[in-house]
Amino acid sequence: MKTELVSSPLSSPLSSLAVELLAVAVTDFQTEKGPDAKLQLALLNADAAVASAAAEVLASGEFKAGANETLVLHAPAGLAAKRLLLVGLGKAAKLSIHGLRSAAGTAVRAAKPRGLREVAFALPEHESLPAFAAARAVAEGALLADFDADTYRSDRKDQGVYSFKLAVPASVDFASAQAGFAEGEIVAEAQNFARVQVNEPGNVLTPTVLGQRAAQMAESVGLKWEVHSTEKLHELQMGAFWGVAKGSEEPPALIVLTYEPEGYDPATYTGPVLGLVGKGITFDSGGISIKPGDGMEKMKYDMAGSAAMLGAICAIGQLKPSVKVICVVCSTENMPDGRAYKPGDVLTAMPAGDKPGKTIEIINTDAEGRLVLADGLTYARSLGATHLINAATLTGAVGVALGKVNGGVFSNDDETFAKFQAALETSGESFWRLPLGDEYAYLIKSDIADIKNTGGRYGGASTAAEFLHVFAGDTPWIHLDIAGMAWIDESRPYIAKGPSGIAVRSVLEWVRSYQS
Ligand code: BES
Ligand code: MN
Ligand code: ZN
Repeated sequence: MKTELVSSPLSSPLSSLAVELLAVAVTDFQTEKGPDAKLQLALLNADAAVASAAAEVLASGEFKAGANETLVLHAPAGLAAKRLLLVGLGKAAKLSIHGLRSAAGTAVRAAKPRGLREVAFALPEHESLPAFAAARAVAEGALLADFDADTYRSDRKDQGVYSFKLAVPASVDFASAQAGFAEGEIVAEAQNFARVQVNEPGNVLTPTVLGQRAAQMAESVGLKWEVHSTEKLHELQMGAFWGVAKGSEEPPALIVLTYEPEGYDPATYTGPVLGLVGKGITFDSGGISIKPGDGMEKMKYDMAGSAAMLGAICAIGQLKPSVKVICVVCSTENMPDGRAYKPGDVLTAMPAGDKPGKTIEIINTDAEGRLVLADGLTYARSLGATHLINAATLTGAVGVALGKVNGGVFSNDDETFAKFQAALETSGESFWRLPLGDEYAYLIKSDIADIKNTGGRYGGASTAAEFLHVFAGDTPWIHLDIAGMAWIDESRPYIAKGPSGIAVRSVLEWVRSYQS
């Protein structure tokens, strides 16, 4: 099933749009408070026919325009559309681009189970929803909402929305809306690319297959790519990455994608080089420190950090910011085996420049993500990265601390962090800064090696971050722990349960903030 999204100018009025479902946004602009306050609703589109079709139900009070609330009217009088969908945007005073993204998603997710194939969404007319950002958000919301995780069901209903039209009212700048819509399509498709990979079972998406898909994607958007395996890990002396990889029958993949801005010349380029590093554990059994069986099937999504980075660079390749970007993905399974690494083993990480690799005492083979990332971060630095960002489903502890509400973000540099925080305003994703610090670093000191790979139960997200910090060194660096956020357990009106694609949009916006 192919979903096609097309933007369509509203050369004709909303009422003449002959689609199966026409969605319009409604807000609650109630200003009075107290017992006398009445619900006052406003359609965010100045179309007389739509207003008259919706008048009765709006007056009835049945529909309250709460965020993502919906109501379907059949055969609306005076409209060519077969159905009119009212989508709530909540209170007018709190209107936001992010609410609009969700509302567009809600419209698509309302259409899917009803078997409706064509949806049109009227771009709201409101000063706090500027054309470019609004159209971008609608495209994102709609495309993200079309994704469902039931890829492998043989009785999968053909539920996709084939056509999604954005109706741009005459009062809104069409060129801006068109540009925003095009950008939103790129971003959402990149995020869906990440979600497709995260959704794949471990037997399908092995490290080798992840490498093939990354290469295919790189080709399609014009990125340079290299995919290496065991031999290269040995050559680079990636003892930490190999320590994890050697217990699996599936060979590891070291994936490197490079984006060079237009006119890039290595001899003269003086701008930043951004290193994107992803944890790509295609299945995490825990290794010899094996996980309990309950919920182990979820550990196919332990490559969500790498999928996020691949998604981000996929969008970067198309949006072409004027900054160089390198993406390094360290992919392997973590398995128990006769050749697997064991608690008590000491691994030697990749050397950094002329410094020998750090030695790592293994306490728990289930703390494998930090090991593969250690070598990934060192490798990205050796390739010239001046700034680093990594994403990983690194710790259960981050989920305990922040719930499935915020991702964890750590940074060794306030300026770099500030740029990430600013990126969140555009992306609409939620991350909360958690602490690094010497006292956490102290907890991963080892008696017999430079460091050990776990720091005990307490402060587990921060001790894991301090482990990575050793390998990021002084390079300005951001670590995103997305373990709690990469998988959505229950569907919401605007997004399906399953892989979320978290971090794609924020990493993309962070990268774009370095444009000269
Ligand atoms: N992949 C897990 C973390 C994880 C947990 C991701 C839940 C998604 C959902 C990671 O490799 C891991 O096992 N971490 C351990 C670290 C511990 C052994 C120090 C954890 O969080 O328990
Ligand atoms: Mn693990
Ligand atoms: Zn893991």
